Amino acid sequence: MGAVVIEQLTKDFSGVTVLQNIELDIKEGEFFALLGPSGCGKTTTMRCIAGFEQPTTGKIKIGGKVVNEVEPNKRNCGMVFQSYALFPHMNVFDNVAYSLNIKQLKASNPIKKIGVYTRMLNSKLVKYSKAIEDKVMNILEYVELADHATKLTSELSGGQQQRVALARALVMEPEVLLMDEPLSNLDQKLRHTMRNTIRKIQQELKITTIFVTHDQEEAMSMADRVAVMKDGEILQIGTPTDLYSNPQTPFIADFVGTSNILSGNIIRKENGISFVEVGDQQVKSTSDVDKKDVQIVIRPESIIVLDKNSQDYDNYFEGEVKLSTYLGSIVRYDITVGEYNLVADTTYESGNNILQEGAKVKLGVSPERVLLI
Ligand SMILES: Nc1ncnc2c1ncn2[C@@H]1O[C@H](COP(=O)(O)OP(=O)(O)OP(=O)(O)O)[C@@H](O)[C@H]1O
Ligand SMILES: [Mg+2]
Repeated sequence: MGAVVIEQLTKDFSGVTVLQNIELDIKEGEFFALLGPSGCGKTTTMRCIAGFEQPTTGKIKIGGKVVNEVEPNKRNCGMVFQSYALFPHMNVFDNVAYSLNIKQLKASNPIKKIGVYTRMLNSKLVKYSKAIEDKVMNILEYVELADHATKLTSELSGGQQQRVALARALVMEPEVLLMDEPLSNLDQKLRHTMRNTIRKIQQELKITTIFVTHDQEEAMSMADRVAVMKDGEILQIGTPTDLYSNPQTPFIADFVGTSNILSGNIIRKENGISFVEVGDQQVKSTSDVDKKDVQIVIRPESIIVLDKNSQDYDNYFEGEVKLSTYLGSIVRYDITVGEYNLVADTTYESGNNILQEGAKVKLGVSPERVLLI
């Protein structure tokens, strides 16, 4: 139940390939994020899983069964869209009960289906069974909306509407929850709160969840594993810490967190250390790669801004502060070193001196923190 496997999925629109050879193996109960820039194919992948798009080639399996030929409403996927797609003329309760009621009425009385739909569209005429009422109220309590059950969704805040959309998906008890940029309409503070709410609900219900976002912080803070996509392909799949500490391409190093990325040449290797020439500087790294032309990745927090009396570091540079940005718990410095610009983050404690533009600094980086790719 609940595992989602995608094998060799490609998708063409009018001869243009927008997904290429997508392979995913999402475990039951996993919180999995699809992360990538706009237009890379995240929504299309999601729509293929939900059944709203037919793959050009490849297989989609849910709970071990191939579902390519299964209609969307029979795939047992709950979907939360970016726009929420709520019915504005219905109250919160009716929005959440809508699909449940149709499912029950369809099952019990298929001949009167059309009449049922007509009645459903006028919320005042809807009568619910006790079982449905209990279920809807339970889920509304769960997302902390029970007190708003009789409000129209158009009277709710963004965060409340988001929770109605979530309740509406969850009330159907889907095997798989699909969420496409569900937080992008919310302001930053609410986004943080909703991240925690969604993660908590997902962990409690242990529901397999696929979450689409272009926000790396969102993906990294919520997901068990993340697939990074670009131009219709998956570049790397890993846990957030894997992706951060071992990005396999400069694109990922840049997209997942902030990185200093420099081009260089390995000129020699000695005792497990690679010596890399970068312009007129030399950088030592414990990273071992089988090529000469390399990209050097250094995270901002790996650069130590040394005070004047410090001993030389293994990797030691002199530079000049171009910009200092106070970010609360850290100060971010943009520093020029020869022809390069580096970003360095230092932790800030109250009373610390913040270096100003033009300040001369010495920088140290441990070879263990210099990644070659
Ligand atoms: N129905 C369609 N017909 C033609 N091209 C489409 C269709 N749907 C998507 N595409 C194209 O497929 C590519 C991937 O689109 P998709 O919506 O999957 O991207 P995305 O990663 O979700 O982007 P965003 O972050 O902007 O939502 C885009 O180039 C898009 O223009
Ligand atoms: Mg999209």
